[in-house]
Amino acid sequence: MENSDMISEVKAIRDFLGSQVTIAAHHYQHPDIIACADIVGDSYGLAVSTASSSAAYIIFCGVQFMAESARVLAKPGQHVLLPRLDAGCPMADMITRRQAAAVLQLIEDITGAAPVPVVYMNSSSEAKSLAGERGGSVCTSSNAVKVVREYLEEGRSIFFFPDQHLGRHTAKMLHMAPQSTAMVSSDFSLACQGDEKLARMFLYDGWCEVHQHFLPEDVAAFRTRHPESIVMVHPECMEEVALMADMIGSTDHILRAVSSAPAGSVIGIGTESTFVHRLASEHPDKIIVPLRESPCEDMCRTSLSNLLSTLREVLDHHDRGIPLRREVTVDDKVARGARRALETMIQITDGVKL
Ligand code: 13P
Ligand code: SF4
Repeated sequence: MENSDMISEVKAIRDFLGSQVTIAAHHYQHPDIIACADIVGDSYGLAVSTASSSAAYIIFCGVQFMAESARVLAKPGQHVLLPRLDAGCPMADMITRRQAAAVLQLIEDITGAAPVPVVYMNSSSEAKSLAGERGGSVCTSSNAVKVVREYLEEGRSIFFFPDQHLGRHTAKMLHMAPQSTAMVSSDFSLACQGDEKLARMFLYDGWCEVHQHFLPEDVAAFRTRHPESIVMVHPECMEEVALMADMIGSTDHILRAVSSAPAGSVIGIGTESTFVHRLASEHPDKIIVPLRESPCEDMCRTSLSNLLSTLREVLDHHDRGIPLRREVTVDDKVARGARRALETMIQITDGVKL
């Protein structure tokens, strides 16, 4: 089937279902998917927008942790579908709930006080649920500073997981001395420049393979080629790369910074490259290039044909009660804890109670 025919059928089913369906897409999705979406955003924006949607069917074009968060925040009776149920996130699998609980105990044994878990959105629902049960919060790349600051101001120490780079960037933004952070490895060994008993923020050593590809040499080479350029990177990039950037932010922050840059700007971007190429095509008056080609395999799994099949499935369910195959489910007990941690994040970020 031609792309244009698929787009026409997607539009026809969407029009028929009207407000009963919402298509949400993360910024890393293919431009064909973005063109069909009702909501496009970063992981925080999508969590908030889908939570306020009253559509009976939310089709989430992204990866498992995003769709599961939408499921956890959804209202009773709503269905959340992921067009590719196999679209995961390797970083989210780097630490289990059981491992996170063991690290919390380790930190408590060392410092004598229970730390607060602050879990990155890119994590399993089980890990989020642990954070909710222990009075902690979820955070994303757009609000980690706000969330961590909230707990530091309460005098609590923090276990931040799984992304070490976002954790380190957050500590830096909060002007924390290097001695007040410690790194916990997957083998439970601990490294701290100062006295670990006095550390305030414990980081787990998780990372994103897509952002790990960006090297300081990439920024240096780009700057040599374009001395008058701007470099923007995602906080999942390693510290050495982030230190060389002019701007560090979530996908939505990058999109807004690109849009507000003057015509003629030359911008090198360190994040998922499908997104960077879309920004380049949406801003022909600027030169926008990825610092290195680094697509996210999981984000790229979702094709227009997967979206169309999901919409047909929704139509069959709506009209004939045929069971949904791509529906995302989260165990009730896990969902309760995860919801608490997601609600805490929204409360801290926007002062809004869901
Ligand atoms: P954002 O929250 O910035 O959209 O990032 C999500 C993500 O998975 C980055 O790799
Ligand atoms: Fe996960 Fe990295 Fe892909 Fe984001 S870019 S979804 S962190 S693998």
